[in-house]
Amino acid sequence: MSTNQLDKKSQSWSALFAEPMSELVKRYTSSVFFDKRLWHADIEGSLAHAEMLAHCGIITKTDHTDIVKGLRQISEEIHNNQFEWKLDLEDVHLNIEARLTQLVGDAGKRLHTGRSRNDQVATDVRLWLRDEIDNVCQLLLDFQQSLVEVAEENIEVIMPGFTHLQVAQPISFAHHLLAYVEMFARDLERFKEVRVRVNRLPLGSAALAGTSYPLDRERVARSLGMVDQDGNPCVCQNSLDAVSDRDFAIEFTSAAALCMVHISRMSEELVLWMSQNYGFIKLSDRFTTGSSIMPQKKNPDVPELARGKTGRVVGHLMGLITLMKGQPLAYNKDNQEDKEPLFDTVDTLKDTLRIFDEMIGGQVEGKSGVKSGGIQVNAPAMQAAALKGYATATDLADYLVRKGLPFRDAHEAVAKIVRIAQEQNVGLSDLALKDLKEINTSIESDVFDVLSLRGSLNARSTLGGTAPAQIRIQIERLKKLF
Ligand code: ARG
Repeated sequence: MSTNQLDKKSQSWSALFAEPMSELVKRYTSSVFFDKRLWHADIEGSLAHAEMLAHCGIITKTDHTDIVKGLRQISEEIHNNQFEWKLDLEDVHLNIEARLTQLVGDAGKRLHTGRSRNDQVATDVRLWLRDEIDNVCQLLLDFQQSLVEVAEENIEVIMPGFTHLQVAQPISFAHHLLAYVEMFARDLERFKEVRVRVNRLPLGSAALAGTSYPLDRERVARSLGMVDQDGNPCVCQNSLDAVSDRDFAIEFTSAAALCMVHISRMSEELVLWMSQNYGFIKLSDRFTTGSSIMPQKKNPDVPELARGKTGRVVGHLMGLITLMKGQPLAYNKDNQEDKEPLFDTVDTLKDTLRIFDEMIGGQVEGKSGVKSGGIQVNAPAMQAAALKGYATATDLADYLVRKGLPFRDAHEAVAKIVRIAQEQNVGLSDLALKDLKEINTSIESDVFDVLSLRGSLNARSTLGGTAPAQIRIQIERLKKLF
């Protein structure tokens, strides 16, 4: 299409069309107002394509020089908000191409040699997503690092560990935080794995069947950094597949949805911990909101919203995977619908990671590097809650096992002891030795060592357990990752 033809697209695509496109259809089919976000990747891809065309003798060096000059100017214009995006030109690709041809004439028209918007858009989305994955990975690392720092300050802080949201066994608050660090570490792994499959080149597949021009696709892959660990070019090997599948976007969104699910679990806990019934933590005021009617309220809006936004990202995953389902080979316009969910997934995830990092870890201020804000831990409230729920009952059972009882009998004996404690309305460690002895004669005064929360914690020193000594080992291991 020439510039004139491109500009007249609103009237008609070509002589083939008897009437211009309806205004409604134009609005319905255009994507420029969201896909203009791909402009940088689009120009990057075009520069690599043009360089290869010139290298292979498909366009002249002069054309190449003109294209580079034109694309640089367009970059500047877009960067400085001086570029006029036209709905009539449908999408980011046609907008940039039209402007290029306006700037450098025929050279601009030659840029599209051996290329289609089908392989162009697949390339653009991959380039854009690759960079965003790197951003997400960095944010995940920062957040993990903050969690580890907060964990390190709270190794000796005891809280109740829950199953079924019932007090189960005492754990260290650090241990609880490090559970999330593990989840986010797996998320990071997933993003890195997805990146390998995102970073492959569709360009050169043209519309669907490849092209008759002698393109050097591997050269383009290398210049776009689409290479494996050994520096070998990564090129999509089937043109039909290359232009049509969006599995890489689905995979990414799936990894993002899982990461948000982890954040959502944490959010739920923050909300609970902030409530008056728990009182385990406080968030800095800048992360809470007031109520318009109840003056006493400080609401945990940020974690609540993150929990809600998780639904939104899971929805995007459903949207994208459904988009792909039932599409015949090769490219179909359905695929234009991949962008908004993908963009929103990236935005939501990045914002959420950033805000959580600051909300939990605090913010490093100015040159002094002093941290402000972050989560405030109410250690006495946590400890009191752990004392309430007979959290050391398992330790008592283990004690009886060490005295020679089979575990099942010990379990039964402790159930009776818990019942007595309930009747007397006291904790296990408040029971008199004589009451304990009545249930089992082998219980001696050394039992009170295991009934203490700290004794219980220290005992769980298996790899991955909550004993402070074990947590210190884990923290050292994790610190090497950052
Ligand atoms: N805007 C389109 C998209 O996002 C670009 C590809 C258009 N290709 C086509 N044959 N209409 O998918």
